[in-house]
Amino acid sequence: MHAITRTVLVTGASSGIGQAVARRLLAEGHHVIGTARDCGSFVKRHPRFGCYALDLAKPETIAPLARQLQQDFPELDTVVFCAGYGQFGSLEQFSYRQIEELMMVNFTAQAMLTRALLPKLKHLPRCNLVYIGSEAALLGRRQGSIYCASKFALRGFTQALRDECGTSCVRVTLINPGMVQTPFFDKLSFRPGEESGQFLQADDVADAVSYVLQAGEHMVVEEINLNPVNKVVRFKGKNGADKNKD
Ligand SMILES: NC(=O)c1ccc[n+]([C@@H]2O[C@H](COP(=O)([O-])OP(=O)(O)OC[C@H]3O[C@@H](n4cnc5c(N)ncnc54)[C@H](OP(=O)(O)O)[C@@H]3O)[C@@H](O)[C@H]2O)c1
Repeated sequence: MHAITRTVLVTGASSGIGQAVARRLLAEGHHVIGTARDCGSFVKRHPRFGCYALDLAKPETIAPLARQLQQDFPELDTVVFCAGYGQFGSLEQFSYRQIEELMMVNFTAQAMLTRALLPKLKHLPRCNLVYIGSEAALLGRRQGSIYCASKFALRGFTQALRDECGTSCVRVTLINPGMVQTPFFDKLSFRPGEESGQFLQADDVADAVSYVLQAGEHMVVEEINLNPVNKVVRFKGKNGADKNKD
């Protein structure tokens, strides 16, 4: 149990990393508000859990939702930004609409949600903003031009925001995982290897979030990079089976 009980907004709490973070925070005694596009995706309910529908591809819904959240939960002091998705391929394979949507969901909407919540958050005695970036925020690679751009943007944003918030109680953290075994890969043509040491688990990222929130009040954990000890990428064939191994 944490000494401080927080009220935490977790975006993308219906699956993968966000779900693991929400579970961990509930187990540690915090109040959690989860978002997903459809609140029906939260099958199990908990007395300290609430949910709101939020589609980050619809920017016009962000400010009204933020207002509603801060009205319903004035004690909301922490946000863990987990929602996002991956789309990979050469640049020419992307439509203009796909480029716009990936940047919107993975970056622009997160900046907008922060913008909408920040004026009130700045006046609380403590506040943590934790963003899930990626190893793709650190190095651009082929087939990842737009995904990497969205995560590089998030990294630049968190660095600047941390500086801007340097005279307030707001602590800004970016966590950059390598490949985590989650439904993120369901629609992709690759996935991490299945042997131990070849993938991270969503709980590893939840551990990092927990560490960030428990860090002494006098300091901010700026960035955390996590990777499996053995980096192995498996490419799927047309039927979803592995095509080759490296
Ligand atoms: N898995 C990895 O290897 C890995 C590595 C590095 C970074 N990441 C990052 O970690 C974050 C979470 O990924 P994950 O692995 O947990 O994937 P996941 O299991 O597919 O979960 C993605 C979450 O994001 C939500 N989401 C997707 N599109 C959304 C939209 N338009 N509006 C609102 N919510 C949306 C989903 O909610 P609904 O579909 O229910 O609405 C879901 O809760 C992403 O930002 C991803 O880039 C993942």
